[in-house]
Amino acid sequence: MFSLIAAIGKNNELGKNNQLIFHIKEDMKFFRNTTKDHKVVMGRNTWKSLPGKLPNRINIVVSETPITEADLTIQELAPFIQKNKGTDEEIFIIGGGMIYREFLNHAKNLYLTEIDNEDPAADTFFPTFDKSKYTKEIIKKGSENGLNYTFAKYIKK
Ligand SMILES: NC(=O)c1ccc[n+]([C@@H]2O[C@H](COP(=O)([O-])OP(=O)(O)OC[C@H]3O[C@@H](n4cnc5c(N)ncnc54)[C@H](OP(=O)(O)O)[C@@H]3O)[C@@H](O)[C@H]2O)c1
Repeated sequence: MFSLIAAIGKNNELGKNNQLIFHIKEDMKFFRNTTKDHKVVMGRNTWKSLPGKLPNRINIVVSETPITEADLTIQELAPFIQKNKGTDEEIFIIGGGMIYREFLNHAKNLYLTEIDNEDPAADTFFPTFDKSKYTKEIIKKGSENGLNYTFAKYIKK
């Protein structure tokens, strides 16, 4: 089963200049705790944005070019999706915009940190989705450095 996990602004902002926009320590902690010991799948741009492999996770990168530093490169997405979609194992899709779009319709859960802020300079966005097709659970609300955020989990009905 696939779960998308992302931090998004009011307009679904995800990133700019291949970096994150909002920096919330509590969100990083939530991400680490939620994805720990799982497989994480990311696009090559997101991989490039990281300082290196995310520890305590199996790092899978989607790219047409094999990436030797990753644990696995997926060059063809369709067979990977077909093989893993119906399994009990929770595989986390960690971005970015292109990869979220490709997995959205195959995902059971969307863990979204909804940040009450915006950035007109954003260049990457989380895809819009039909919220009526999901049950929304509020995990926690908080505030850090003037940024109000909500950890929400959308579960496909
Ligand atoms: N806010 C958040 O939670 C969050 C999370 C993650 C990322 N981000 C942000 O998102 C931005 C990056 O997102 P992005 O949309 O530019 O890129 P991305 O989704 O990270 O990566 C796109 C790349 O993945 C590869 N790819 C995608 N689909 C493929 C397929 N079907 N087959 C083979 N390869 C495929 C391609 O690489 P090749 O050209 O190598 O084939 C493509 O150029 C950054 O700003 C990052 O900071 C934000």
